[in-house]
Amino acid sequence: MTKEVVIVSGAAGGIGRAVAERLARLDTHRLVLCDIDRKGLDEVIEGLPAAGHQSFTVDVGSEASVRNLFLELKNQGIQASALANCFGISPVADNGDRISLEQTSLDLWNRVFQVNSTGIFLMCQAFLQQENIKNPEQPKRLVNVSSAAAQLGGYRSCPAYIASKASVIALTKSIARDYAEDGVLANSVCPGLIDTQMFRQGNPADNVASRVPLGRLGEGDDVAGAIEFLLSPLASYITGASIDVNGGYRMA
Ligand SMILES: NC(=O)c1ccc[n+]([C@@H]2O[C@H](COP(=O)([O-])OP(=O)(O)OC[C@H]3O[C@@H](n4cnc5c(N)ncnc54)[C@H](O)[C@@H]3O)[C@@H](O)[C@H]2O)c1
Repeated sequence: MTKEVVIVSGAAGGIGRAVAERLARLDTHRLVLCDIDRKGLDEVIEGLPAAGHQSFTVDVGSEASVRNLFLELKNQGIQASALANCFGISPVADNGDRISLEQTSLDLWNRVFQVNSTGIFLMCQAFLQQENIKNPEQPKRLVNVSSAAAQLGGYRSCPAYIASKASVIALTKSIARDYAEDGVLANSVCPGLIDTQMFRQGNPADNVASRVPLGRLGEGDDVAGAIEFLLSPLASYITGASIDVNGGYRMA
């Protein structure tokens, strides 16, 4: 059986790694993992249950780097039919405090947008520019990770992060509408409080889990489950949606 090729970006991070591990366990996908963190990628790929997966060092905020990835795939005759964008940065002050709007330099604002927003644009554009992508008979699936912060106005993350994550939801909807006739399903997921490196860097309060109706922080795998669903035929009539994965922390 030919395995579907899925690109997982941000694959060295808490959520991206959980997505890679879930999809690898299914053994129906060939994974193309990418991240800016080479060492992290090596650890992830070594730990995967099945062989045949590949990893690439990619800076998603760099057009040249993203183009190189897709050129390399093309040269290898690889066409990806699914994409899960799980990268992101969420800067905090040196002491772990939240950075306010007044403390946000233009440089910080641009740096956050370069990764969280432009990175989504570049990865989705290059994915959709692959040859033969516009074939309604062959479904293509794309999932972008946004954040509950974009829906709530956030309270722990910085304004640049919150605004960049709102752009992820909007761009995903625009892709869903524009490419529906080509068989592309595009959705976002909005995680709440997920226990990863990104979450821990912001000095979470000891009792933060008590604010979540389900009474615990999320794990990377909780988000990965929703992404696996959106990448599967079970979600064949879902597009332009943003799925909350937040333990009830924010109810629409
Ligand atoms: N952890 C949470 O509580 C939470 C909540 C809501 C949304 N999210 C979102 O979930 C996604 C995954 O975050 P996580 O919690 O796994 O964090 P993480 O810090 O564990 O992982 C983020 C990954 O993105 C990679 N990355 C950063 N800049 C990159 C670049 N320029 N090019 C390529 N890769 C780059 C990092 O190397 C890292 O592996 C992010 O989009 C984040 O904003 C996380």
